[in-house]
Amino acid sequence: MKTKIILLGPPGSGKGTQGEMLGGEFGFVRLSTGDMLREAARNGTPLGIKAKGYMDSGALVPNDLIINLMMEKIASLGDGTGVIFDGFPRTVEQADALGERIDVDLALNLDVDDAELVNRLTKRRSCPKCNAVYHLDYNPPAESGICDKCGSELYHRDDDKEETVVNRLNVYRRNTMPLIEYYEKRGKLRTVRGTGDIDGIFEKVKETVL
Ligand code: AP5
Repeated sequence: MKTKIILLGPPGSGKGTQGEMLGGEFGFVRLSTGDMLREAARNGTPLGIKAKGYMDSGALVPNDLIINLMMEKIASLGDGTGVIFDGFPRTVEQADALGERIDVDLALNLDVDDAELVNRLTKRRSCPKCNAVYHLDYNPPAESGICDKCGSELYHRDDDKEETVVNRLNVYRRNTMPLIEYYEKRGKLRTVRGTGDIDGIFEKVKETVL
C-alpha cells in the first residue's frame, strides 16, 4: 500500500474532501497547509499574520515559510506513519524540499474543469473548528449553516469569492501544474477524474492507493 501520498489538483478539485476520507479509511495523517495557515491566521501567530495577505488575494505564501512549516510537521511524525499531503507541495522548490526528506510513493492528481471549480468554491461552506467542508447544493449540512460534525457555525472563506477564485486558478496553472509533469517523470503520478459522485470518486482514489 502507498503510505506517502501527495494530493495534487486545482483549488476546489476535492483534495480536502477525498483526503479526509482517505485518512479516515486507512488511518493516515492528513497534513493540509491551507488548514494550518488558516488556523495560524485565526490565532494571530507571526506565521498567520504573514500568510493572511497572500491567502486572501489568492497568491501563494512564500516557499521558505511553507517549507519550514512542513519540515517541522514531518519531523514530528512517527516512523512508518502514513501521511497525506493536501496542498503541499505547490511549487517545484517545495517538491524538491519534500523529496529530500520523504520518498513520496504516490502523487494523486484530481482532474476537474474550471467551470465546475468556480461553482464548487463559491458555494463551499467551511467549518472553522474541525475544517469539514460542505457545498450548498451537492453536499449541504443537515442544518443550514451548522457543521454536522462539531456543531460550529459554518463560514464562507474570504478566498472563495469569485474574483479571488479566478486568481487562484491562474496561480495554480502557473506554479503548481508543472508538478504534474514533475511527478510523471518520476513515475509517481496517477490522475483520477474528480467529477461526479463523491463516494464514486473515493472508490477510484482508493484503487490508486492499494
Ligand atoms: P488551500 O486551503 O490548500 O486551498 P486550495 O488548494 O485552493 O484547495 P481548496 O481547499 O480550495 O479545495 P480542495 O481541493 O481541498 O476542495 P474541497 O475538498 O474543499 O490553500 C489556500 C491558500 O493557502 C492558498 O491559496 C495559498 O495562499 C496558501 N497555501 C496553502 N498551501 C500552500 C503552499 N503549499 N504553498 C504556498 N501557499 C500555500 O472541495 C471544494 C468544494 O467542492 C466543497 O464545497 C466540497 O463539498 C465540494 N465537492 C468536493 N467534491 C465534490 C464532488 N465530487 N462533486 C461536487 N462537489 C464536490
